[in-house]
Amino acid sequence: MTDFSELIDRRHTNSVKWDVKDNELPMWVADMDFQTLPAIVEAIQQKAQNGIFGYEEVPQAYFDAVQSWYESEHNWRPETDWMIFSTGVVPTISSSVRRLTNVGDNVLVQAPVYNIFYNSILNNGRHVLSSDLVLDDQDTYHIDWRDLEAKMAEPLTTLMILCNPHNPVGMIWSADTLARIGELAAKHHVVVLSDEIHGDITAPDKGYTPFASVNKVNEQNCVVAVSPSKTFNVAALHAATVIVPNETLRAVVNRGLNTDELAEPNSFAIPATIAAYTKGHQWVHDLRAYIEDNKQTVAKFVAENVPSVKVVAGDATYLVWLDTSKVGMPSDKLEQFIRQETGLFLSDGTVYGGDGREFLRMNVACPKERLMDGLNRLKQGIAAVK
Ligand SMILES: Cc1ncc(COP(=O)(O)O)c(C=O)c1O
Repeated sequence: MTDFSELIDRRHTNSVKWDVKDNELPMWVADMDFQTLPAIVEAIQQKAQNGIFGYEEVPQAYFDAVQSWYESEHNWRPETDWMIFSTGVVPTISSSVRRLTNVGDNVLVQAPVYNIFYNSILNNGRHVLSSDLVLDDQDTYHIDWRDLEAKMAEPLTTLMILCNPHNPVGMIWSADTLARIGELAAKHHVVVLSDEIHGDITAPDKGYTPFASVNKVNEQNCVVAVSPSKTFNVAALHAATVIVPNETLRAVVNRGLNTDELAEPNSFAIPATIAAYTKGHQWVHDLRAYIEDNKQTVAKFVAENVPSVKVVAGDATYLVWLDTSKVGMPSDKLEQFIRQETGLFLSDGTVYGGDGREFLRMNVACPKERLMDGLNRLKQGIAAVK
């Protein structure tokens, strides 16, 4: 099994995350510093051993593996007929935006949210319409339902991109919340594209609810995108699955994925995904426990050592949302300042929109020793703010 505490040097490996100066510690992009499930490595080695990398089709075994993972891990058994292979979640979102909406339409999001949603919307000539999440006195984000419905009701709002669970705030949406979103979306003829890439990484005793699993209304009005990429740290394998229970919607999305040339796997995507979804259960459960422990370490350290910063606790993702509103520097400047002072590279919350300009995001999917290094740098950086 993987030793999550093993320190692996990722510098000079073409890693986007680790393409930084020697003294810098990157804790930004959603990429983990752990080696993946050994069974994935074996599956890739076996494939490489063939030495033939011709065009591939997606076998039934791939869809069966996705189905059994969702059934055993998330109590949802999507039909394999509902599934389409795709080379990524973001490519799927961009393609769906092009297929399911028209130029000039509104695409609804809930800021602060994964910044690349904005690219997929804006680069295709659509408008971003956000129903911002609201942070309450208990440090919990909630939906402003009146605002959400008003924005869904706008005639040009045709698609909502839901982040389930939510990056960067780490919220797991309850079944009731998902049903309420689904009901409003159906009422106002808004399709829901549910990005569930973070669904596997939740606190050990908490699961997430797939949007389509909630009821028939949700099921028939959604496009769900899942992938092993965050869960198993295999983003560069470019494998995702798009699940669309509604036949008409599926045909439209499928056409988009094909005309955008996103439906063909590379040689390693299929064996790796099958290995992940058939052999990765225990590994993911161990990973969840390690990440939860890291999150608790962050919460304790920050409460004891960095009083001007508050951790907004979320039960999902390996990303910690740090409220820096009391530090006295907007987060774009603060992110730069901490990086220059200490080498710690966090994500500037501004890019996620909404109230993100008062937050930093910290990726805690790393060995404890590296986490402690990051936390000490955070303390030092915040202390240096005058
Ligand atoms: C919410 C969300 N969706 C999608 C992605 C990326 O998906 P992919 O690499 O499959 O395009 C990320 C990566 O951080 C993410 O956080």
